[in-house]
Amino acid sequence: MAERAIARGAEAEILESGLRGAKAIEKHRLAKGYRCRELDEKIRLERTRLEAMLLHRAKSAGVRTPLVLAVDQEKKSIFMEFVEGKNAKFSVKGNLKLCREIGKQIAALHSAGIIHGDLTTDNILAAGKGRIVFIDFGLGFNSNKEEDKAVDLINLKKTLLAGDASLKKEWKAILKAYVAAGGCKGIAGKIEEIERRGRYA
Ligand SMILES: Nc1ncnc2c1ncn2[C@@H]1O[C@H](COP(=O)(O)OP(=O)(O)O)[C@@H](O)[C@H]1O
Ligand SMILES: [Mg+2]
Repeated sequence: MAERAIARGAEAEILESGLRGAKAIEKHRLAKGYRCRELDEKIRLERTRLEAMLLHRAKSAGVRTPLVLAVDQEKKSIFMEFVEGKNAKFSVKGNLKLCREIGKQIAALHSAGIIHGDLTTDNILAAGKGRIVFIDFGLGFNSNKEEDKAVDLINLKKTLLAGDASLKKEWKAILKAYVAAGGCKGIAGKIEEIERRGRYA
């Protein structure tokens, strides 16, 4: 099946690909010419493995992620389920129900000790009927520290408010749902503390 590029970021190209007849996505980590070849191979392989593992672990924790179909270690590609939907940044405005779902799912992710590492409204897909799917775990890691969870959420807050400063209500809905769903209770205080530190450091 002919491959069609869907997106191309700093690290990877996303191709629409057919795997055993099903519509799938290939996330292919590109070689970086400026790194020595051996090191480059190692970094790309590690990130590929890590992302596949975290996509799977998040799903085990009840968080929606695309199903990993295959990993090509030679090529540094993950083949995963194609999610019909669009980036959440196009859907959050005024949609507090969706925001609450985002908060709830992040709480589940964090309760499982998974930090996303690049939590933005680009890396959350709105798949219709209020369903959301988390993608792009290449910078994720395992941690149960309140600080790491707060930084994850600050990332989301920044991208949300940078795109549209009027989305404060949406941000509050995410945070409230996060706490209600069993996310770190003192998270709002921790976020403020880190933001204060950042401002005056
Ligand atoms: N499984 C998927 N289903 C549908 N679209 C996807 C999927 N994975 C990635 N995409 C699309 O490709 C874009 C880039 O993918 P992402 O994993 O975030 O790579 P990058 O590291 O380059 O940001 C996403 O914002 C999304 O629009
Ligand atoms: Mg991304």
